Amino acid sequence: RVCVRVCVIFNEVDPGGQCLACMWVSGGAVIIMFLTFSVFLTQVCRVSSDDSASAASSMEVTDRIASLEQRVQMQEDEIQLLKSALADVVRRLNLSEEQQAMGSRRGPTKARPMIATLPLRPTVNNGTILPKKGGGTLPSPSGSGSRKDTKEGYVKMYLKGRPITMYMPKDQVDSYCLEARAELPSNKLKLDWVYGYRGRDCRSNLYLLPTGETVYFIASVVVLFNVDEQLQRHYTGHTDDIKCLAVHPDKITIATGQVAGTSSDGKLAPHVRVWDSVSLNTLHVLGTGFFDRALVCLAFSKSNGGNTLCVVDDSNDHVLSVWDWQREDRLAEVKCSNESVFAADFHPTDSNIVVTCGKSHLYFWNLEKGMLVKKQGLFEKQEKPKFVLCVTFAENGDAITGDSSGNILVWGKGTNRISHVIQGAHEGSIFALCMLRNGTLVSGGKDRRLISWDNSYQQIQTVEVPELFGPIRTIAEGRGQTVLIGTTKNFVLQGSLDGEFMSITQGHTDELWGLAVHPWKPQFLTCGYDRQVCLWDSSSHQLIWAKNMDDAAQSAGFHPSGSVVAIGTQTGRWLVLDTDSKDLVTVHTDGNEQLSVMRYGPDGNFLAIGSHDNYIYIYAVAENGRKYSRVGKCSGHSSFITHLDWSVDSQYLVSNSGDYEILYWIPSVCKQVVSVDMTRDIEWFTYTCTLGFQVFGLWPDGSDGTDINAVCRSNDKNLLVTGDDFGKVHLFSYPCSQFRAPSHVYGGHSSHVTNVTFLYDDGYLVSTGGKDMSVMQWRIV
Ligand SMILES: *[C@@H]1O[C@H](CO)[C@@H](O)[C@H](O)[C@H]1NC(C)=O
Ligand SMILES: *[C@@H]1O[C@H](CO)[C@@H](O)[C@H](O)[C@H]1NC(C)=O
Ligand SMILES: *[C@@H]1O[C@H](CO)[C@@H](O)[C@H](O)[C@H]1NC(C)=O
Ligand SMILES: *[C@@H]1O[C@H](CO)[C@@H](O)[C@H](O)[C@H]1NC(C)=O
Ligand SMILES: *[C@@H]1O[C@H](CO)[C@@H](O)[C@H](O)[C@H]1NC(C)=O
Repeated sequence: RVCVRVCVIFNEVDPGGQCLACMWVSGGAVIIMFLTFSVFLTQVCRVSSDDSASAASSMEVTDRIASLEQRVQMQEDEIQLLKSALADVVRRLNLSEEQQAMGSRRGPTKARPMIATLPLRPTVNNGTILPKKGGGTLPSPSGSGSRKDTKEGYVKMYLKGRPITMYMPKDQVDSYCLEARAELPSNKLKLDWVYGYRGRDCRSNLYLLPTGETVYFIASVVVLFNVDEQLQRHYTGHTDDIKCLAVHPDKITIATGQVAGTSSDGKLAPHVRVWDSVSLNTLHVLGTGFFDRALVCLAFSKSNGGNTLCVVDDSNDHVLSVWDWQREDRLAEVKCSNESVFAADFHPTDSNIVVTCGKSHLYFWNLEKGMLVKKQGLFEKQEKPKFVLCVTFAENGDAITGDSSGNILVWGKGTNRISHVIQGAHEGSIFALCMLRNGTLVSGGKDRRLISWDNSYQQIQTVEVPELFGPIRTIAEGRGQTVLIGTTKNFVLQGSLDGEFMSITQGHTDELWGLAVHPWKPQFLTCGYDRQVCLWDSSSHQLIWAKNMDDAAQSAGFHPSGSVVAIGTQTGRWLVLDTDSKDLVTVHTDGNEQLSVMRYGPDGNFLAIGSHDNYIYIYAVAENGRKYSRVGKCSGHSSFITHLDWSVDSQYLVSNSGDYEILYWIPSVCKQVVSVDMTRDIEWFTYTCTLGFQVFGLWPDGSDGTDINAVCRSNDKNLLVTGDDFGKVHLFSYPCSQFRAPSHVYGGHSSHVTNVTFLYDDGYLVSTGGKDMSVMQWRIV
């Protein structure tokens, strides 16, 4: 007769599913049979090992129900696990089927690469009509236009009203046609790997999914990382920084919230995306037009089948809203606090209770008839902490908070009063609390200690995370006995409560600019304002080494031998490191401003350094990059140097500056070359300059000339990639010398893309995300 109750529990977990349950007693065992998820499951539960009738009758009915509920809960957990594992298997099967299908299709598509290398579509209109128009500009609403002079063979483009004249190679003068349409490249990009994790300023953003994937985010990408198989998948539905993440009780559905952003065509509204972590399909988008600023807290309810979602946005009023996410319907909203809110979560057994905490507050909200009614946490004789930083719940429904005074406070279920205090649990702020499945509470914080507590709040174990990794930002239960830890230095660690931590993800912790590619190995180097230089292996995705410097780094370039790499800093100081040992080879200083480009000539005998002091410094290089002597400084630019390229024969340099000048140089004597005839036919070893005849098509209409930060031509000279101010990576065909050339556009970064570059064999390219601190590796497909 208790079977009704069992049924109710099941209905809550799977509201749409069929649920039939029956329960009877037979020989001291309780047998429960139920039909759910369209599957028959028969379960025999032995509630009492004692066969005597007296034992059964003395056991309070409520206790028996409680014990049954617990068992049912455990079964539900297992069923969820099976469900998601099954979904994952289906996904993998589908994938391998697709791959097989592709394999069998490979034969007939062999002709493709040949088509791709054919020249661009020949045009009827081959340039001869232009002189009649008197060199008119192409229609351009924004005033930035371009025109071609057929006699001289140049194209003129305007950026911010400044004319930029770009001469074409002699052999193109007769055939070039300004009105011809450029073609999209036949290649595309696929996001292959994301280096980094956002732990510095985000909370509760790391979980293990039943598929074995660790889920977290950086920039506007959610990473699903299978550590065992070293595979990453990515959810890329967001358009700007993600700041919060929640996992549904079904462990498959995920919600993520983003900030308000800007794109090239205006504002991007903050919103929540609810998506399926197995298929990566977006299920719902909530709150577009409702939210004001960045979304900072997000949680699914637990007891009503995860039907509701609570969200806090970072507006002045920190509005807390509760949503029926499946109906995309807002159930309630309230001004939460005029101060920062750090966490929001539903009560585990009462989905009408939401707890929020933040700067000088802890609120218990009760959802009653569409209203959120507030009860303040009463600190009474306990000193009120400046910040309540995190909240979790005990099995019995007690709320547990961690605060900036290092105290853990326990709040009796259903009350706003403290029932237990662990005074001075940590030294300094407690950033994270995690209740493990077995009832052990784990806390972590600024003191880098990971402490476990039993269910009567007695300390079990303390371990300290090494200083290198930084303070503990978030804790999640891992597989088996492991825990996952996100740190404020942007590490994701896998470890145990006994110590021993292994980094599974790491990244930069400040704005990122420098990027250099190894000339013949699958390696690249990144450096930035966090004063860290990192060398990465692009095939294993592992860090090879990291080195700390005294100054913030701005730029980098490998010697063509690959044996050393030069790093330019923000102070005018530059250094050379040995690629294998990371030992310092030499240090020099030129000027006292940031060095925006470091580039060795292709023969390895010269190094050109572009500075913000408007000069290009030239060094003669000997002994395979180990000896440097200054040749001189090239003066002529009237603004800071932005980009530099060497000619194939190492005899010439081309440079761009902040005021859109293109100048040519003979670097061995630091002399400027003004003759057009001498420079128009020079073949450039690299193409990273954003201004030039071969690339001017990359400029979007109405550009002010600052929105493209980096350009790189592929080594096979077929593709051109750019990084812009709106977090986008664009892939063009090369040459890119038709006005407003079309491109494939890729999101993922949430800040300025500060650099992009092809790896040595053109199989991949790498982009750096400036303030979003991420490094993304893209496969060329
Ligand atoms: C299998 O892949 C195809 C193509 O990507 C997709 O349309 C389909 O929904 C997938 N099926 C499942 C069950 O994931
Ligand atoms: C360009 O047009 C002129 C005149 O119509 C023609 O003589 C010439 O062959 C054309 N060139 C190309 C490359 O098609
Ligand atoms: C927030 O509100 C409290 C009182 O409600 C007030 O004392 C405090 O100055 C406010 N803080 C800010 C940052 O507006
Ligand atoms: C609970 O789980 C943790 C981590 O899995 C483990 O270290 C600990 O020993 C367990 N505690 C008990 C009482 O089983
Ligand atoms: C951007 O990447 C290119 C290609 O690796 C590199 O040569 C250049 O120095 C980088 N720019 C900066 C600022 O590091």
